[in-house]
Amino acid sequence: MPEAIRVLVTGAAGQIAYSLMQSIANGSVFGKDQPVVLVLLDITPMMGVLDGVVMELHDSAHPTLKEVIGTDKEEVAFKDLDVAILVGSMPRKEGMERKDLLKANVKIFKSQGAALDKYSKKTVRVVVVGNPANTNCLTALRSAPSIPKENFSCLTRLDHNRALAQIALRLGVSSGDVKNVIIWGNHSSTQYPDASHASVNIEGKESSALDAVKDDSWIKGDFISTVQQRGAAVIKARKLSSAMSAAKAICDHVRDIWFGTPEGQFVSMGVISDGNPYGVPEGLLYSFPVTIKDKTWKIVEGLKIDAFSREKMDLTAKELQEEKDTAFEFLSA
Ligand code: NAD
Ligand code: LMR
Repeated sequence: MPEAIRVLVTGAAGQIAYSLMQSIANGSVFGKDQPVVLVLLDITPMMGVLDGVVMELHDSAHPTLKEVIGTDKEEVAFKDLDVAILVGSMPRKEGMERKDLLKANVKIFKSQGAALDKYSKKTVRVVVVGNPANTNCLTALRSAPSIPKENFSCLTRLDHNRALAQIALRLGVSSGDVKNVIIWGNHSSTQYPDASHASVNIEGKESSALDAVKDDSWIKGDFISTVQQRGAAVIKARKLSSAMSAAKAICDHVRDIWFGTPEGQFVSMGVISDGNPYGVPEGLLYSFPVTIKDKTWKIVEGLKIDAFSREKMDLTAKELQEEKDTAFEFLSA
């Protein structure tokens, strides 16, 4: 058995965490032979609820779960981490945009970025889920100058999975038959879900998603708006934000960081835009198509960007720049 890895989940008494922890504890994310110390952080008033979560994890008797630590202290939670999954923060309610959470949530990510810097391993991989995820991730990254920027990413895999699912539903195939959709930009309603490089396998025959769908107005219209608005649609229906699908997307994202992306496939992930080959301004935490090898992502190069895509990619970059400016105003106030 290899040495145990230390994995933190914040917001551990919340609804996403409740859907997420079984998969981390049972080996579905880091492998069935990888022991895990699961560290759970939430705020002091939630410690009673967190006790119940810790009990349930013990009672699940997972062979790969070496230890569970519940805490409300950052110095305990962030110590010697291999992986940090930062979920803890306020979710939006019906009628809000995710950026409306900036004021409430950005301070959490400043403080947790500083705690990563102070207490975690320099090799830690950090995944930000709490909204607005891109700008919170940028805040954490900037608050942890001793950790490489490339170790930080934010979750746009839920949007990516939603895009796969919409194409699969349209064609009557499974999501597993569709690959290489792209989510560009912000995890917000300006994100650009792009099917123009995607492919689909129908009865063993591979073709481009555009050729299979044969409906450009859907690809450029309802497909994009459905994926952009899916989070809001779930909130309207459930009166709570998505949790089960978010937890599944976190598992997909972290598993790909740990084990790499399959040959010939790319996934979407919010990463630092410095040096990107698509003309996105530097210094933003922007979602790109990436491949991953040896726990290191690389932006997919050489994809053709037409005028339609360019306009949408620039629009979401503009929103990220504005969010960044607002976040730094809040932090310096
Ligand atoms: P929730 O309200 O059920 O749980 C959030 C938990 O975070 C609560 O237990 C709360 O006490 C805790 N928390 C608050 N401040 C904290 C802090 N400083 N440290 C540690 N824990 C803290 O919310 P949820 O449904 O689990 O959603 C959590 C976040 O994830 C929200 O911001 C939501 O909008 C976001 N989200 C993102 C995506 C994505 O794709 N990026 C998807 C779904 C939800
Ligand atoms: C989602 O995409 O479901 C989450 O970001 C929650 C939300 O606020 O939409």
